[in-house]
Amino acid sequence: MNAFTAPPCNDPSPGLRHGPSHNWRPFLTLIMAMSVNGIISRAADESVSTWSSAEDKAHLDRMIAQHKTVITGRESFAATRSNAPSPHKPLKDGVRYYVLTHDEALWRKSAPPVTYLGGTAEDVLRRMKAEGVDRAALLGGPRTNAAFLNGGYVDEMFLTIEPALFCTGRGLCEGLMRDDLALELLSAETLNPRGTLLLHYKALWDSPPKAG
Ligand SMILES: NC(=O)c1ccc[n+]([C@@H]2O[C@H](COP(=O)([O-])OP(=O)(O)OC[C@H]3O[C@@H](n4cnc5c(N)ncnc54)[C@H](OP(=O)(O)O)[C@@H]3O)[C@@H](O)[C@H]2O)c1
Repeated sequence: MNAFTAPPCNDPSPGLRHGPSHNWRPFLTLIMAMSVNGIISRAADESVSTWSSAEDKAHLDRMIAQHKTVITGRESFAATRSNAPSPHKPLKDGVRYYVLTHDEALWRKSAPPVTYLGGTAEDVLRRMKAEGVDRAALLGGPRTNAAFLNGGYVDEMFLTIEPALFCTGRGLCEGLMRDDLALELLSAETLNPRGTLLLHYKALWDSPPKAG
């Protein structure tokens, strides 16, 4: 399929390819599928796999296998596991799951490979780092994404744009309380004949968004 990749001489982000650039927290990659109008969730308990393409699922599986550690909110964790075509899918081998929740009873139910935890995004990332995590995939949903975006802790994003327009639903982040974020496109790829797009962006926390 068609692909665009920024030429190496323009690529200011070797850290994105070669791993973590922060020593106090894991390098964080947000991975999200959405409609062309930016909707990532049509209904609270609906798994993304009901509308995302096979190619996006393969991409997500590859990313999870590469990162080996996932951060997700309790709602998304539940949606992924209960409403997918094969209900109660097993967790992926060799992957650690950090699931955010305020429910202390769930914290106590933590057992490898699933850790339920709460606190600020910084608390969560410090704990993960202390547990040896150097990079992690941030898999939403909107409230969990906002917690890490608010802190400026997202380093890169892989956004899959499915060729569909959803009339209602929720966007990528909810409760964002900071300035808008500029992104730099690192690569763009068409994943299938229907035109599912995979966009890879670097987060430019130090540059305000502007045209050109
Ligand atoms: N399109 C995609 O790629 C994609 C990816 C993932 C999810 N989704 C969709 O997103 C929807 C769910 O999103 P959502 O925003 O409602 O849920 P979410 O972010 O998955 O989970 C929200 C829950 O996470 C916990 N949480 C979030 N921040 C926390 C913090 N700082 N400390 C402690 N706990 C925290 C809370 O759990 P408690 O209530 O237990 O305290 C909160 O209710 C689902 O429909 C799912 O399918 C879409």
